[in-house]
Amino acid sequence: MNEDIDWGSLPFGYYPTDYNVRCAFRDGKWGPIEVTKSDTVNIHMAATALHYGQEIFEGLKAFRGVDGKIRIFRWEENAKRIRQSAEGLLMEPIPEEIFKEMCVQAVKLNERFIPPYGTGASLYIRPLEIGMSARVGVKEADEYLFIVMVTPVGPYFKGGFKNTNICIMREYDRVAPQGTGRFKCGGNYAASLTAGHKAHSLGYSAVLYLDPKEKKYLDECGPANFYAIKDGKYITPKSDSILPSITNMSLMTLAREMGMEVEQRHITVDELEECSEAAACGTAAVCSPIGEIDDLDTGKKYIMSKDGKPGPVTTKFYNTLNAIRLGEVPDTHGWNLIVE
Ligand code: PLP
Ligand code: COI
Repeated sequence: MNEDIDWGSLPFGYYPTDYNVRCAFRDGKWGPIEVTKSDTVNIHMAATALHYGQEIFEGLKAFRGVDGKIRIFRWEENAKRIRQSAEGLLMEPIPEEIFKEMCVQAVKLNERFIPPYGTGASLYIRPLEIGMSARVGVKEADEYLFIVMVTPVGPYFKGGFKNTNICIMREYDRVAPQGTGRFKCGGNYAASLTAGHKAHSLGYSAVLYLDPKEKKYLDECGPANFYAIKDGKYITPKSDSILPSITNMSLMTLAREMGMEVEQRHITVDELEECSEAAACGTAAVCSPIGEIDDLDTGKKYIMSKDGKPGPVTTKFYNTLNAIRLGEVPDTHGWNLIVE
């Protein structure tokens, strides 16, 4: 246990840990997994990661459960998704078993940084892959470095599980219609920084992007997916330009089990008028309730919470998801990997 950390007030930020694990792809094959204490990377100045954005990453979490056991949530889905991201950016996909082994090793080696049960914090696992070959012409690398680092984190949005406001802005797109939105690559986040900065400076926690082609339908919510509750149904955008969120996928399963209908479809901005709840969902965001959605271009305000409190459905999702990940209720879907 690391006595110096105030677990209850951890932000969602980088806190140095003891080790990270690495694996290099060279001469057509992945090499051995290496453990290091170094938190820097030695990289060629002409590497494709630096010039042409060959960088992909993932985000998943490990938890200390009620029974003292360590659980990693749905790693298989992150392994699948990083394969799709690799294929999308012509990078070398990491085999699932190496991905798993590296996540497990990174968690075990940094066990003293796993927040204790009951603190609300978790150990964020951040796998990333970068193109290492020197190129000046625009071409993919043939050497890659895969790293798994971990860091203890608190809630993504300030204040934890409470409402925040978000805004709709048509001035910027995060991604192109047939672009890289469904992949988890650094470039998408670079493209979101200006809009995010503007939203934050106006007091909003995130931008609710519209579809980049027609600007008619709801798309991604900052670094998270979006869902709303309409007539008791769970509705969430269907779009080729959003990242398929594993949290959203999990909530859709929980919603069906709670007897709700689930619709993954185009959602127009006007429909927000008829929604009784909305939230941003993702590994970092869990499910972060939204109080109000302001359309900066029309001046229209969509009120998602009349009493200023998180809605009943989102509260239930949040509690259920946490209970599963903390081992408080049976893991009926086999979502947790218990790290022995
Ligand atoms: N959308 C974006 C742009 C994200 O960065 C994330 C975070 O990973 C998500 C959605 C949520 O995905 P997940 O629930 O798999 O973490
Ligand atoms: C996540 O939820 O894991 C994310 O990647 C969001 C963000 C911190 C990039």
